Amino acid sequence: MQANCAASLLARHPLREQSGAITGRERELAALARLLEPGGPVADPGPDRVARPGATPLSASMSLFSDTYAWSLVSGPAGATLSSASGVTTTLNASAEGTYVVQLVSGKGSAQSAPKQVQVVVSATAPANVHFADIKAIMQTPGLCIACHSPSGQLPRPPVFYSNEDRNGDLMVDATDEVWLYNEVRSRINFTDLVASPLLRKPSNHHHKGGLIAGFNSALPPGDPARARYDTFLNWILAGAPQ
Ligand code: HEC
Repeated sequence: MQANCAASLLARHPLREQSGAITGRERELAALARLLEPGGPVADPGPDRVARPGATPLSASMSLFSDTYAWSLVSGPAGATLSSASGVTTTLNASAEGTYVVQLVSGKGSAQSAPKQVQVVVSATAPANVHFADIKAIMQTPGLCIACHSPSGQLPRPPVFYSNEDRNGDLMVDATDEVWLYNEVRSRINFTDLVASPLLRKPSNHHHKGGLIAGFNSALPPGDPARARYDTFLNWILAGAPQ
């Protein structure tokens, strides 16, 4: 938008002096226009994660300014394959436990992105088929989220309760309240930039008044016991956060 403004300013009010010399202001505007031009392609193969042996779907759809994709296996135990080397999505088929590194380069026209890698830690104990009940069980673990996120929680008390409450004011705590809680938690997910979700950012200590919550240390590699709950939340979100 601003780049367009700068460009149209240049077109409508040529600043070049009669002599043809370029003025300082013109140079400044041209530099601004260049600076604000949309960039080249940026590859994004999605967040590092844990997965069960078998098929792990990967998506490049969070990449920017990209319309071609090149996936490759960089490292990991032998025998793994990728279902597609050029799709916007691909599937890592890996039966052996271990850490696999998959690389994505995206492109637009002749421009290529810098390579970006995603780590998939395959383990038989990785959280799979995660549903809201599993997320709620973590939130309601005594001393965890509900130590603050409940009507009797620690002060300063956040106004968002993860305990079972009569949310619709009909004097009962029932299935309707459960759906309201699900929708409230789901609304803290950013589906266009998964790791930017407040549901992942806050308990992993990014501007969270409650600080770092046990099991949410996202600075550690996937599969580390100290980030096991983060891995569960992430796998739930990667699966579309099913009820
Ligand atoms: C020690 C108290 C404490 C604990 C434990 C705690 N929180 Fe919080 N949380 C807060 C406070 C206070 C706020 C409000 C201020 C802020 O945004 O940081 C908050 C805010 C949040 C928010 C943003 C508010 C919103 O609109 O949704 C999210 C998301 C969140 N917490 C998630 C969690 C999760 C998930 C857990 C457990 C895994 C957790 N918190 C555990 C104190 C806590």
